[in-house]
Amino acid sequence: MTGGHRRGGGLTADPAATRILPGDDPAAIAEAAARIRAGEAVAFPTETVYGLGANALDPVAAARIFEIKGRPAFDPLIVHLADPAALAEVVQPEALVDRRVRALAERFWPGPLTLVLPKRDAVPGIVTAGLDTVGVRVPDHRVARALIAAAGVPIAAPSANRFGRVSPTRADHVARQLGGRIGLILDGGPCRVGVESTVLLLAADGAVLLRPGGTPLEAIEAVIGPVTIPAEHEARSLSPGRAASHYAPRATVVLAAPEAAPRAKAGERLGLLAASEAGRRVAEAVGGPFAAVEVLSATGDAVEAAARLFDALHRLDAVDLDRIVAQPLPEAGLGRAVNDRLRRAAARR
Ligand code: TXA
Ligand code: MG
Repeated sequence: MTGGHRRGGGLTADPAATRILPGDDPAAIAEAAARIRAGEAVAFPTETVYGLGANALDPVAAARIFEIKGRPAFDPLIVHLADPAALAEVVQPEALVDRRVRALAERFWPGPLTLVLPKRDAVPGIVTAGLDTVGVRVPDHRVARALIAAAGVPIAAPSANRFGRVSPTRADHVARQLGGRIGLILDGGPCRVGVESTVLLLAADGAVLLRPGGTPLEAIEAVIGPVTIPAEHEARSLSPGRAASHYAPRATVVLAAPEAAPRAKAGERLGLLAASEAGRRVAEAVGGPFAAVEVLSATGDAVEAAARLFDALHRLDAVDLDRIVAQPLPEAGLGRAVNDRLRRAAARR
């Protein structure tokens, strides 16, 4: 025992108070599940990013998530289920017979798709930021599903970063941001998808894309037909957490196509987040010099770029840059999700 279970995991100052345990160890899963049942928040891996999870049916436990992250209470949490069958515990019966829900769950769960559906009273208002809908998904990660199953309750979890900062795709990203604030991190290695789930609102009069993410819009439309892409201000009113500024490293981020790469100002430490090797070569020819360079995918592949995005931003963040030049991807497939995160990282705080 190292200090025992600090019930509620108050905000301890000592980063060493946070233990990292292997997610494939059944004893670690059992301990994490016990902490969840005791009302504590623990960090765990999913296929998208690491989550900071707590019992979704316990308002006090859910409130701790907001406290630990420094997250505003108007930003709703996603509820994670071990199995699609558990949907009945958190959404209204009418959602269970919605043909779009059945078709999307069948095709994409477990996986990086969050459905926003009418909630049951059992889901506390703090989880949904007072909305009468709840975002739900079944993550495609062994450790996440084992944890939820062992806890025996749905788990509410945002990404396990300080509010507004870069999302974590490795256990050590979580430790750097939340070390000392949580008791336990389950380590599941690097996240396979690397960007958060796609968030889809299924309203009676149609489906609306609230956040592009790990499930491509094109694949969703192939199952349920056309999906509405709202204007930025509309998306923000439908999905309160969609802050303009988010995913922000310490350095200023600017977006620029390779041919428009800026030159470093005198004394400025400029970094480059290139979409491809070709993009890197052009940017280095017309701009720079760059103090640090990350290439998201040698060939500019959007799936690979998404998987590496946050890790690359964390690495650039660690070498003390003044400004990072980021290259957008073509606006299709996972490129939409990558560009969305880059635009928010570049938005002024
Ligand atoms: O991949 C993911 O979705 C990760 C992993 C941990 O599962 N989670 C995640 O959570 O990205 P978070 O809290 O960083 O983003 C959740 C976003 C909210 O900010 C909001 O935009 C949207 O999902 N959301 C959740 N519930 C909603 C609701 N009832 N209505 C509208 N938007 C909702
Ligand atoms: Mg987040």
